[in-house]
Amino acid sequence: MNTPSASGLDSVVVAETALSDVDGERGRLIIRGYAVEELVERATFEDVCVLMWNGALPSSDERETLRASLAEAREYAFSILPTIGSALVTPDSMEALRTAVGHLRSGDPTRDRVRLTGAIPVFAAAWARGRAEQSPVRPQPRLSHAADCLQMLNGTAPQPARVRALDAYLCCVVDHGMNASTFTSRVVASTGSDLVSAIVAAIGALKGPLHGGAPGPVLDMFDAVGRAERARAWLDSELAAGRRIMGMGHRVYHVRDPRAAALEAATSALERSGVAADRLTLARAIEREAERLLAERHPERRLRANVEFYTAVLLDAVGIPRTLFSPMFAASRVVGWCAHVDEQRRVGRLIRPASRYVGPVPTQTKP
Ligand code: COA
Repeated sequence: MNTPSASGLDSVVVAETALSDVDGERGRLIIRGYAVEELVERATFEDVCVLMWNGALPSSDERETLRASLAEAREYAFSILPTIGSALVTPDSMEALRTAVGHLRSGDPTRDRVRLTGAIPVFAAAWARGRAEQSPVRPQPRLSHAADCLQMLNGTAPQPARVRALDAYLCCVVDHGMNASTFTSRVVASTGSDLVSAIVAAIGALKGPLHGGAPGPVLDMFDAVGRAERARAWLDSELAAGRRIMGMGHRVYHVRDPRAAALEAATSALERSGVAADRLTLARAIEREAERLLAERHPERRLRANVEFYTAVLLDAVGIPRTLFSPMFAASRVVGWCAHVDEQRRVGRLIRPASRYVGPVPTQTKP
């Protein structure tokens, strides 16, 4: 019989990593030696790329060099849009992303990780604009990566407060231990395959609703609840119907996900700078009620808000449509995937676990 750990690999250590550490008991996430809260508050996406790929935060020259390389990578992805055929013509944004990224040619891994990171927001924005029957907007080399994400999506100069909030999000979700998509990228890398293939596979894993697909439904929940006074009744009826509350609970964290707190703080900062974060008050009320109701139903385990709960609040306030929530997750996590692929390559050993055969055996033996 399969044990839970055999079927879901819970707590099975499959790699040694210097990239990130998740402490589910104390609710701590360390990324390359830094608490996630510190990166969210102080770093830019460009800083976090250099940290993940080179092991230390950049000097100002290094930051500018990376910023210029990312701008070139966005420009390159934009230039190949006419050659990727119908890749972006699908109602599913993650399907579009997976297919479009598959059009990138693999070559030198150091060049490819920048190309992949630059390409994801270009493809995501072009997909969203295509759905609205609008043409893609050319990237602006002088903008930061976060600013250009918004510029390519809306075609207008982004507000600095929104750029800062998006930057905070991109720093927050860059890496998170041995999650399913990261493991996927490492398995592909371990076969000696190329970086583009590893990232396409990781996007496929992230696409699944148990991994990267929760923030859209969290926003749907906010819409369905509508007003704080209705939260308890709505949540009660969902639980009575046997449905899960999206954005609550986590496999590893037994306390509130530290990224939920970091993103809540980043959304508060956005609000203080004058940008309305319409759903923040409602979200807090729903979280309080959900936590109370889930504690009544599951006194044996603590089901608290996870990263997706406040991702929905923040990305919505920044002006990202809910259909792009998962691609925005990929826009950040690609940096972690690339770092893990590099780390796995240095291990240099094929990941090839075993299985236990439980099927029929031949009834006749050969004479
Ligand atoms: N709402 C209601 N009940 C929940 C719940 C939620 N969000 N999360 C877990 N539970 C309940 C389950 O129904 C189950 O109850 P049971 O024992 O009576 O059947 C129990 O808690 C254990 O659930 P299980 O699926 O084994 O826990 P897990 O640790 O594997 O699950 C998640 C982790 C994230 C998959 C789960 O909490 C969940 O589905 N959350 C909602 C989706 C979500 O927010 N995903 C984003 C994750 S970052």
